[in-house]
Amino acid sequence: MPKVRIVFDRVRVEEKMLEQKAIELGHDTKMIDAKTTQINTESKKNNFDFGDVVIERCVSYFRGLHFTACLEFLDVPVINKFEVANNCGNKMLTSLLLRKHNVPTPKTYFSFSSDAALETLDKEGYPLVIKPITGSWGRGVMALKDRDTADAIVEVRELSDGPLDRIYYLQEMVRRPPRDIRAITVGEQVIAAMYRTSTDSFKTNIALGAEPIACEITKELDDVCVKASKAVGGGILGIDVMEDEKHGLVVHEINNTVEFKGLAKVAKRNIPKEMIEYAIASAIR
Ligand SMILES: Nc1ncnc2c1ncn2[C@@H]1O[C@H](COP(=O)(O)OP(=O)(O)O)[C@@H](O)[C@H]1O
Ligand SMILES: [Mg+2]
Repeated sequence: MPKVRIVFDRVRVEEKMLEQKAIELGHDTKMIDAKTTQINTESKKNNFDFGDVVIERCVSYFRGLHFTACLEFLDVPVINKFEVANNCGNKMLTSLLLRKHNVPTPKTYFSFSSDAALETLDKEGYPLVIKPITGSWGRGVMALKDRDTADAIVEVRELSDGPLDRIYYLQEMVRRPPRDIRAITVGEQVIAAMYRTSTDSFKTNIALGAEPIACEITKELDDVCVKASKAVGGGILGIDVMEDEKHGLVVHEINNTVEFKGLAKVAKRNIPKEMIEYAIASAIR
């Protein structure tokens, strides 16, 4: 009987759904709190109860990433892999990989000082979207509409001590309907997709109140999402896609620890079931 472990730092609806489904499917299932787990350089796999496969679900990206490194050190199969988590947790690495693998993605500019960022803005014209290279729920994603706004945002960034704030990620403002698409890929399959429609903000995150509406998984959507998943190394992923008026579907972000309580309401397939079955299958393989 395969043993499934779910590593968490805060139990959201999603972690509860995964635990319940794993139990329902008859697997030996345990939740492991990353915050109370102690690992050292002499640790061995059999000092712990990490089972046959771990699904890493920490809310804190850096906690989850570093915990994943420890699991791989112990030779515990973990979803997602460290490399994948690292690629997806950093929007700049994601953009580079998407482009490198010919996955359509918005044009994105990288600058390494405030002056260079302002120069990009002046040269390319407003608006551009600025994003922190790590983060989610739309936090810190802003439309820079003119030089005054850009000056203010860049100045605030300069005052912060965060090392990642020295890296400026600026993106063309994609012309699209007031919605985007969130798809979930499990291995090489798109198992569910929804539109996220927002009327009061250009950001369409469910965390900001966007409406989830069922979205058909067309061949074009399937192709672009599977290609995007492969570009970052595969696993269980949340792919964010926009419908660019000029270029069709473009992928703007890939989420490593995908939330799915909104999508579960409108999806045809059972999302936690697909995730658990994939985790078990990849552990056995
Ligand atoms: N280049 C863009 N053009 C238009 N809208 C964008 C662009 N980038 C992001 N958005 C909007 O902002 C939301 C949040 O951006 P995203 O890159 O997904 O960051 P987060 O990790 O915070 O979800 C997207 O879901 C989308 O609605
Ligand atoms: Mg997003």
